[in-house]
Amino acid sequence: MTLSWVEDAKRRAVLKAVEPIKSGWIIGLGSGSTVAYAVAELGRRVKRGNTELSVVPTSHQVELLAISHGLRVVSLNEAFTVDYVVDGADQVEQSSLNAIKGGGGALLREKIVASAAHRLVLVIDETKLSRHLGGKQGVPIEVLPFAYRFVQSRITKLGGRARLREGAGKVGPVVTDNGNFVLDADFGRIAKPQQLERQLKAVPGLVETGLFLGMVDQAYVGLRTGEVRVLEPA
Ligand code: A5P
Repeated sequence: MTLSWVEDAKRRAVLKAVEPIKSGWIIGLGSGSTVAYAVAELGRRVKRGNTELSVVPTSHQVELLAISHGLRVVSLNEAFTVDYVVDGADQVEQSSLNAIKGGGGALLREKIVASAAHRLVLVIDETKLSRHLGGKQGVPIEVLPFAYRFVQSRITKLGGRARLREGAGKVGPVVTDNGNFVLDADFGRIAKPQQLERQLKAVPGLVETGLFLGMVDQAYVGLRTGEVRVLEPA
């Protein structure tokens, strides 16, 4: 099977991003299609026998995948701290490495695990690298079902437009692994992400935003040419 250049770029970048991982580490696994390559590679390493790892998954998707690849899964409550997180992203600002995440609806656990970790590494293909946050990319927001209309109206007051994410393979809205809804909020180009984050987090009923600000240590970017660029925040 031939991979599209995007899938190939993601896979190459993941292989480089997992190179620093050492035996004995506790690895946080983000969610989504990019992290799936990391799970497969870590599973291969553990099966070869010279690496022992525990992983903290951030969704049912990646937990089931990790189990199927023979990885030892631990909860965040057991692990408490995490040595290294490998995750994907929907958009990464190239200077700051601030990111938007949550396209797969796993942003809440991803943010918690990233906050508990010593290092957060994102893996993307070059199409996700951007000069600014926002623009065509909306911000996924996890919201309590009880409060979603209220949160929607507060987002409108903040200059955004939020729509309830609809499910696929199920009628009705997406329900996250935490039993919440997801709003996709369009703020256009986000000039002041820290300010927006503060304003959003002050809305009761809003559980978490997909803005990952000042959290990312490195981004591994798979290029169309087959190379991988490693970026650090400026
Ligand atoms: C999951 O909720 C997201 O944060 C993902 O990390 C993001 O959407 C990237 O997903 P892919 O790796 O599938 O592109």
